[in-house]
Amino acid sequence: MISHKQLFLLNNAQTSTSPNFLEVDRAEGLYIYDVDGKRYMDLVSGFAVSNIGHRHPKVISAIKDQLDKFLHLTVYGEYIQSPMVKFAEKLISVLPESLNNVYFVNSGTEATEGALKLAKRFTGRSGIISCYNSYHGSTHGALSVMGNEHYKQAYRPLLPDIEFIHFGKEEDLELITTATACVIMETVQGEAGIRVASLEYMQKLRAKCTATGTLLILDEIQAAFGRTGKLFAFEHYGIIPDILLLAKALGGGMPIGAFVANRDVMGVLKENPILGHITTFGGHPVSSVSGLASLNVIIDENLVDGVTEKGELFRSLLVHDLIREVRGTGLMMSIQLDTFEQVEKVSKLCAAEGIIIDWFLHCENALRVAPPLIITNEEIRKACSVILSALDKL
Ligand SMILES: Cc1ncc(COP(=O)(O)O)c(C=O)c1O
Repeated sequence: MISHKQLFLLNNAQTSTSPNFLEVDRAEGLYIYDVDGKRYMDLVSGFAVSNIGHRHPKVISAIKDQLDKFLHLTVYGEYIQSPMVKFAEKLISVLPESLNNVYFVNSGTEATEGALKLAKRFTGRSGIISCYNSYHGSTHGALSVMGNEHYKQAYRPLLPDIEFIHFGKEEDLELITTATACVIMETVQGEAGIRVASLEYMQKLRAKCTATGTLLILDEIQAAFGRTGKLFAFEHYGIIPDILLLAKALGGGMPIGAFVANRDVMGVLKENPILGHITTFGGHPVSSVSGLASLNVIIDENLVDGVTEKGELFRSLLVHDLIREVRGTGLMMSIQLDTFEQVEKVSKLCAAEGIIIDWFLHCENALRVAPPLIITNEEIRKACSVILSALDKL
């Protein structure tokens, strides 16, 4: 009989020549179980999605309730659907006052597309500034603002009028002028291998955008919902973006994205032309109830509270001759090694011992550590001892 692996390779489009090949049976909390019953501790969280762990009972129950009411009804923005109404209300209640209008989409890249269009419409300008080594998604607009030529060159021509600056370099902020519609930036750079900018830099960035009438788009698709030790990463810096991008953990395991702005800014999408930015599935009812349940879990169970300490515990344990640096904030971390070969070997050795760990798009010689926020201190100790003994074997 033809195996699932053979069918997967034959019928499912592949994104690389070396997929992970883990054949999953089920997932619960911090753990993924393969079809042979082997248990894996998930230190990747489906790439910063499963912040509350896999299949939280409150999320599952909210989804089941919604299944008995309605699924998709019509395109986003027409009918009043309580799941997306309640979810937007809750999101706004945990955001600063100025971020009071939510446009739901389906994914992170779609949030990026919507935000870039909104910035152009609101400012009447076309200039966009993004960062080297950034990642904002894979569709054409998002690809245009990606700061890595390696992934772009095969797809040109892309969007015009985009300039790149170095994340964290104050001198580069001079490029932001009254011709700039927006700066799009990850509050904490993810795929660059987890890079954190200084408080001064982020405050100067905010000031320069304000002074030039440029909209500041902060992409927290990877960093939001407690991962950095605050509910939103911009809270570390005492700044507020004009547009906030959310996805990944937003849905509690279901697909949904959003760009959030002030009502006055978002209002330009209503006319000239009407329906100038639309989506069929944006804010899907099942994803919305799942996202609301997940956000309630994060808040009611105080999941953000222990994140900084848990990150520090990881850092205190991850000491080894081959580790050059442990970067990051909270449970958004990277372990810097020297080569991709080391990273690949450690990942394989960890997988054999039941630990899932990965690397980054723009930084292949560092390991990604981003477990669900529910990980316990005991589990952190176990994970670190497996990583360290894998490093011993190199
Ligand atoms: C910072 C950031 N922005 C945008 C995206 C794109 O999100 P999606 O894969 O949902 O399109 C990602 C995905 O990894 C991301 O990490």
